[in-house]
Amino acid sequence: MIDLRSDTVTRPCAGMRAAMLEAPLGDDVYGDDPTVNLLEATLADRTGKESGLFLASGTQSNLCALLSHCGRGDEYIAGQDAHTYKYEAGGAAVLGGIQPQPIPWNARGELDLQDIQRVIKPDDIHFAKTRLLCLENTVGGKAVSQAYTDAATGLARSNGLVCHLDGARIFNAAEKLDLKLKKICQPFDSISICLSKGLAAPAGSVLVGEADFIQRARRWRKMLGGGMRQAGILAAAGLYALEHNVTRLAEDHKNARFLGEALSKIPGFTLTEPVETNMIFLTMSGETLPALTQYLADLDIKISGTRWVLHKDVSTGHLQTLIQACEAFAAARE
Ligand SMILES: Cc1ncc(COP(=O)(O)O)c(C=O)c1O
Repeated sequence: MIDLRSDTVTRPCAGMRAAMLEAPLGDDVYGDDPTVNLLEATLADRTGKESGLFLASGTQSNLCALLSHCGRGDEYIAGQDAHTYKYEAGGAAVLGGIQPQPIPWNARGELDLQDIQRVIKPDDIHFAKTRLLCLENTVGGKAVSQAYTDAATGLARSNGLVCHLDGARIFNAAEKLDLKLKKICQPFDSISICLSKGLAAPAGSVLVGEADFIQRARRWRKMLGGGMRQAGILAAAGLYALEHNVTRLAEDHKNARFLGEALSKIPGFTLTEPVETNMIFLTMSGETLPALTQYLADLDIKISGTRWVLHKDVSTGHLQTLIQACEAFAAARE
């Protein structure tokens, strides 16, 4: 089976499973699970922040960040297609009374600085209080440049806002930009990092930031039902991922470039944009996509729409099989 739906589909390897089995455990709600504590401290250290908090998912991590930065009647600015706005079931609004202010992304996944400035509301009883700028990196498979990050967060700060980064795939960004994690994280008050995407852990995200912010997030996590007990079993997978699966992300990026190049030579397969990290995006006619999806499914190859994602469990052998299948599909339709 070849599964390109997302990098979330990866399965833990034998080494990761062994690390989970052997992890020293405690009760994390009492704060004494040594493996969770080590994971939180490790990511805090690598990102240059004071503290970390282990959470069940990226969605819970982003939500705890929004709830910890903003109060009822506050507002956060995010991209129209940002995960924190569009794909988290409106959690910040539903659970926190926090108003989202979405604005469009450009093709690079950047929010126009003038748009940001325009939607920051003056202190007026008619308006919500604009409190937070929320960015994402990578965004739609693209690595956001440090120059843009510095400019956008600088603008936010000069208007008194705090800044959160949804860094679900920040290690992919660091690989592509050839930057240290600390450098990317430096302009942000908080960063949410997923362990269960390209890093291939079965679950878990870590939120990092200043100690008092993380303490507030810890309370929210408990309220959201996210206080887990012997969570070290999962944290051990995260630690294993940090040790073994970060440098190999370059392989996913290389595979994505290779696949993109090969597909773009097949009639009917057009790349929407150049490949940057572990995702490729195709432009395909409305009737071709369902036919291709079914054709590939019959060969035990899973895709989800026109975004195809490379990850640890897609080998170069799989790529050959996939390319041949796409060639055969195209030939049959000629
Ligand atoms: C950019 C981004 N942020 C956050 C998340 C949420 O992560 P989770 O699925 O662990 O809730 C995702 C999930 O795919 C994502 O792509």
